Amino acid sequence: MHFHIITILPEFFESPLSCGLLGKALEKKIVETSIIFPRDFTKDRHSTVDDRPYGGGPGMVMMVDPLYQAVKTLPQGCRKILLTPKGKPFNHETAVRLSQEKDIALVCGRYEGIDARLEDLCDFEHISAGDFVLNGGESAALCLMESVSRFLPGFMGKEESVGDESFSKGLLEYPHYTRPENYENHSVPQVLLSGNHGKIAQWKRECSLQSTLKFRPELLDEADLSAEDISFLKQIERPRPSRNLYITLVHWPVMNKKGKEGTTSLTNLDIHDIARVSETFGLGGYYICTPLKDQQILAERLVSHWTAGPGGKGNPDRAMALSTIQICSYLEEAVQKIQEQTGIKPHIVATSASGPGDTTFGSIRRKLQSHPVLIVLGTGYGLSQSVLSRADEILRPVSYLSSFNHLSVRSAASILIDRLIGDYY
Ligand SMILES: C[S@@+](CC[C@H](N)C(=O)[O-])C[C@H]1O[C@@H](n2cnc3c(N)ncnc32)[C@H](O)[C@@H]1O
Repeated sequence: MHFHIITILPEFFESPLSCGLLGKALEKKIVETSIIFPRDFTKDRHSTVDDRPYGGGPGMVMMVDPLYQAVKTLPQGCRKILLTPKGKPFNHETAVRLSQEKDIALVCGRYEGIDARLEDLCDFEHISAGDFVLNGGESAALCLMESVSRFLPGFMGKEESVGDESFSKGLLEYPHYTRPENYENHSVPQVLLSGNHGKIAQWKRECSLQSTLKFRPELLDEADLSAEDISFLKQIERPRPSRNLYITLVHWPVMNKKGKEGTTSLTNLDIHDIARVSETFGLGGYYICTPLKDQQILAERLVSHWTAGPGGKGNPDRAMALSTIQICSYLEEAVQKIQEQTGIKPHIVATSASGPGDTTFGSIRRKLQSHPVLIVLGTGYGLSQSVLSRADEILRPVSYLSSFNHLSVRSAASILIDRLIGDYY
């Protein structure tokens, strides 16, 4: 594997490439590196590689020509990587894939970045070290070189050690311990001293699962999990911000098709389906608001049929879901009930298919970590202006980039809840 590093700071690489496993791999020629210095391709006596940006703005921009001339010296078939914050965040999979290459070029920008025409002229793979800005691509290039090299035969002391580490099986790694057996009253887990290899392997797997669920639950979406893994994960206690999420379905005041405020009738499907989603995701509660007495009586009959009545006896799951329903006259009553239950006034988040909401799902997800949030869903042609203006925030439409957002309220509820809670909250 040969890394061709295009940089105006060659000295950046001196120490990292001369020590540790990477240093040894260079000695053994498992890895080879060469520096391509863009200043060698300049034509002025100051070897200038940067200039002021067209259109103004702070900082300098790397000129296209010295970099393009540098790229042109790369061998045929070389994979050309541009290190840039806009690239795909670098990860284990990319490292494994790149370890199959023979030649990799790493183009390191500096200053405000590189003249954009370099990307028109070269066929780059864009890679980022993460969602932050570095002073230059050099430290990103080092991360990439080190992690890619670990997959080269002969690089690691023991060939199997990369196969056991974090991300290699889609999970984070289990914890390690070494002597002494007891330190400041913290002992090494007994199982590791037992000599029972089966038990040790099981302990390692369970620790990996536990750590992944705690620190990086989203990795579990891709991990290969056995039935035992899943039943182990299910019984782990975890914080449930989903308990902070409440949902209410408002039947008054909502808009009708003539653009006037009015009241809608209950829809059986909305009662059932939203209750089932709400129970599946472990929500704090589901409130159905209608000021009409006959509709309240109907809702109560329905709910009691499926909870205490014959429906509930035949369908215990349905009974469990529908028992989360509370019937209220007005939105204020739902707010008050949540406040009585939690001791805190919930943050009211209205929804609308046509805007003007601009609150992001991410900001509500963060709010849920510490505060009750009530998502207000409208029936008919949507919540009236009087409800929207009473809300603390209005959520973005489900598909805010689409011009068509006409979902049934129960579909919208499912999507909103899944986006806010997902599998792990
Ligand atoms: C100061 S940065 C330029 C940042 C740029 N103005 C922006 O806002 O996206 C200079 C150079 O550092 C490198 N760089 C900065 N952050 C990086 C990251 N997260 N991953 C990879 N390279 C990065 C790129 O090569 C970039 O051209």
